[in-house]
Amino acid sequence: MKIFVSDTPSEASKLAAAEFKALIRLKSDAVLGLATGGTPLLLYRELIEACGRKEISFKKIRTFNLDEYVGLSASNPRSFRSFMDENLFNHIDIERENIRVPNGISPDFSATCAEYEAAIKKAGGIDLQLLGIGSDGHIGFNEPMSAFSSRTRIETLTPKTIADNAKFFDGNPEFVPTRAITMGIATIMDSRSIALLAFGESKADIVARMVCGDIDESVPASVLRRHSDVMVFLDTAAASKLPSSILIRA
Ligand code: PGA
Repeated sequence: MKIFVSDTPSEASKLAAAEFKALIRLKSDAVLGLATGGTPLLLYRELIEACGRKEISFKKIRTFNLDEYVGLSASNPRSFRSFMDENLFNHIDIERENIRVPNGISPDFSATCAEYEAAIKKAGGIDLQLLGIGSDGHIGFNEPMSAFSSRTRIETLTPKTIADNAKFFDGNPEFVPTRAITMGIATIMDSRSIALLAFGESKADIVARMVCGDIDESVPASVLRRHSDVMVFLDTAAASKLPSSILIRA
């Protein structure tokens, strides 16, 4: 795990964006794993701008999102699919058929989950997976005590995650769906490389547990220390509880 620390979220996002841009230039049909939430917004803006300047093209890029709320259709403005359209896909030259976000309103979730896993495999696997981290240590929507062997499935959200995500539902936790369809931990770990971003003081404790605590299911993100190619991009606040000797100042 390489841990890069920048002064601001904007600088950290630029650094992470450089990894995505380098991959896209090297492999024009790369498979990207994408994430929602507040954290990736600046990174997405960097990619949109780079695409606008024609430095990179998404023409042949394929994407798989980590998760979607159960009960929200792709056209629901609160769905992760809508979030991605608004914050990335509508502003780049990606082909719509190359975009995959789990279907939150499937009539048969076990078939949908198996099909999502199969589609990732068929695409050749994920080259670079983007992750945020929940304040409870979740990656995707793999909440604490998710099995490290888990695959795409339905997960029940913790009260902490529901409270954190209320910011996207008019601040009202009662509007937040209680279940989600999410890539599993083993699905995420199959990615060839992983970039995790975390910003702000509110993430400092969980980042320290991910990096320095035990590797176990109580902090799902701790599993990433078993992966051979993980880059963590932090701002100073999110890195504030880590020993400075392990940080790469960027
Ligand atoms: P956030 O969410 O980017 O909105 O903090 C991160 C996550 O839950 O993975």
